[in-house]
Parts: sequence; C-alpha cells; structure tokens
Amino acid sequence: MEPDRSIMRETTRDFQTYYSPMLHGEIRLDTNTNVLGSNPAAAKYLRTHTWDLNGYPDTYSRDLRTALGELYGIESDCIIAGNGSDEMIDVVFKTFTNWGDNSVVPVPSYSLYDYFVKMNGGRAIPVDLTEDFQLDVDSMVKQENAKVTIVPSPNNPTGNCFRTKDLEELISRFDGIVVMDEAYTEYSGNDGFIKKTAEFDNLVVTRTFSKVYAMAALRVGYMVANRKLTDMMMSVKIPYSLNAISEGAAVAALKDQDFVKRSVSMVAEQRPKLADGLRKLGFEPFPSDSNFILARSPIDHTALVEGLKRKGILIRDFGSKRRTENCVRPTVGTEELNRLLLEKIAEVIDECR
Ligand SMILES: Cc1ncc(COP(=O)(O)O)c(C=O)c1O
Repeated sequence: MEPDRSIMRETTRDFQTYYSPMLHGEIRLDTNTNVLGSNPAAAKYLRTHTWDLNGYPDTYSRDLRTALGELYGIESDCIIAGNGSDEMIDVVFKTFTNWGDNSVVPVPSYSLYDYFVKMNGGRAIPVDLTEDFQLDVDSMVKQENAKVTIVPSPNNPTGNCFRTKDLEELISRFDGIVVMDEAYTEYSGNDGFIKKTAEFDNLVVTRTFSKVYAMAALRVGYMVANRKLTDMMMSVKIPYSLNAISEGAAVAALKDQDFVKRSVSMVAEQRPKLADGLRKLGFEPFPSDSNFILARSPIDHTALVEGLKRKGILIRDFGSKRRTENCVRPTVGTEELNRLLLEKIAEVIDECR
C-alpha cells in the first residue's frame, strides 16, 4: 500500500503539525510563558526529590486537586487535573460532543480550538468577535445544534478580557457547555469564573501552570466545573495522564503565591511601557489584560518576524490571518527584554525602509 492522507480519519485529513520553530538559542517572546524563568518552588522540588519511577502516578492526581481545592475554597471533586489545559479542552469535546456536532469558536481566538473540535469528529462553527474584539453573544447563541462553545478570557491572540456581563449572558443563554479558557486570567487582575461554576451548571473553567506559574515544560493544567460535569469528564480523561513528577512540582508551586504576585506585577508595570514603545515605532497595539500584546505592524509582518529572528528574538506572527492582518504578538518582557526587543524592532524597520 502506498499510504496517502486518504487513509486518515476524514475529520483530521487536512491537519498540519503545530507551530514548532527550529531553535538556535533565540530569546522566546513567542509563547507567552513567564519571562522571569522557571518557577523557583517547582525547580527546588525537582532538585530535592526522588521518585519511585516504577510506580504509576495517582490515577486522578488527588494531591494536586486537593491543593487546588484548598487554594480556591472548593471541593477537589469539582476539579480535574491533567497534561496541560490542552488536554482539559480535549476532554471537554470528547465528553460532550458526538460525531458531526457543532461547537462554536470565536474568531480570532486560540488556534487549537478548531483542532480539538475536529479531532473529536465535530464541526467548528466560527463566530467573529465584534470590531473591538468583544463577544457577539447573539450570534454565538443562535448557532443550531451547538453542544459546546469555548471562550478564552483574556483572549489569545487579542489579549483583552471579554466583558463579564457578556460572559454571564453567554453562559445563561447558550444551550450547551460553555468552556472558559482562563490560561492568562492571573494577569488580568480579576478572579475569573472559577467560583461561578457553583452557580452555572453548564460552565467549565480551564487553567494552566504553563503561563504565570512558569512550568510549561512540565505540562500541567486543570479544570473546574460542578460535580456532575466533572464526574462525566473524569470517566473520559485518560487515566494517569498527569505524571507524578509534574504533579509534585505543581503542588510545590502552588505554595509560592509570592512568585505569582511578582510575575503579575512585573507584567502590569511593563505592559503599558511596551505598548508605548511599540506605538512610538509606528505600531497599533491593541488593549491587553494579559502578558502579551497584539499589535499591527508598520512594516510587512513576515519581514518583521523573520528580521527579529535573525537578530535572536522570536515573536509570534498572526499577520496572515483574517481579523489580525499584519499583526504580531510579542510576550511582555522584563524592562531589559522589552528595551532589547524595541531596539531590534527599530533596526529591522530601518533595514526594511
Ligand atoms: C488560550 C490558551 N489556552 C490554552 C493554552 C494551552 O495551555 P497548556 O500549556 O496548559 O496546554 C494556551 C497556550 O498557549 C493558550 O494560549
């Protein structure tokens, strides 16, 4: 047999591999991880512990779920932990969608939503955000046969939070499961919707240790919902999907909330300065509640991103996508990193003119 893509499952046949740049020591301002570096409490835990590598981890990560329950004042049975919030999102679609079901996905938002919907046999129904990148609740709720909708707040790549009243209206009016992806919520200065899972029985909130907790390498994420939903999703999630080493490191990281606070205040201080610097170079930065800024470039987006790469800095290119034409998305750095980024951008602009 000469294998071609026709042997693939129909819904995944047009998939391409994900963003995976070849690295040559560049400074990474392309993945919105924490620019302060590895989580110190998790790093210490890894240096000072040994594990029985012959034993499976706890099937459903009880230690981490207990620690999260204590942090938020909720029952650990309302929490599921796993291999990054990507796994959590996948579990939602696996649990609540059948072959051919629709799921509503805002545009622009996190690019992997489409992938998770289709991977699970569903159809992603795109609904555009408004001009100012807010939710169009009426359009979202009127899509037929929609089982799930997913909204990241703050949104990636636009950076802004959606209005609380719109989110509440969406959850109340949507006839299915609403997932709020809160990968960047810590940066937004609001508490997010975890507590509201007690109030709304169709709400699932996902969070991650990959961003403000500075542990992306260890792949830890979790989600919170009412007990009935978590019972269903727990029965679908792959057992042992969170390894014992990552789970222990996440428990250690939760005990160091000072690191989280420091990271959040650094971003709050640097974000307006970076936006200002970008504006002075001719960019149009969009308002951000997160640790990254979407900005329309004054020169061709590919020339900018490639030029920066040659100078040793990676930022993410959204310039070829609808609604973010000619836009790029740098992560907010430290004072020094932002200065370097702005300097290098100025050089690339000069070289292009
Ligand atoms: C909006 C959003 N959700 C989820 C994720 C995935 O996070 P994790 O590393 O926990 O899988 C990302 C990662 O960039 C993201 O931007």
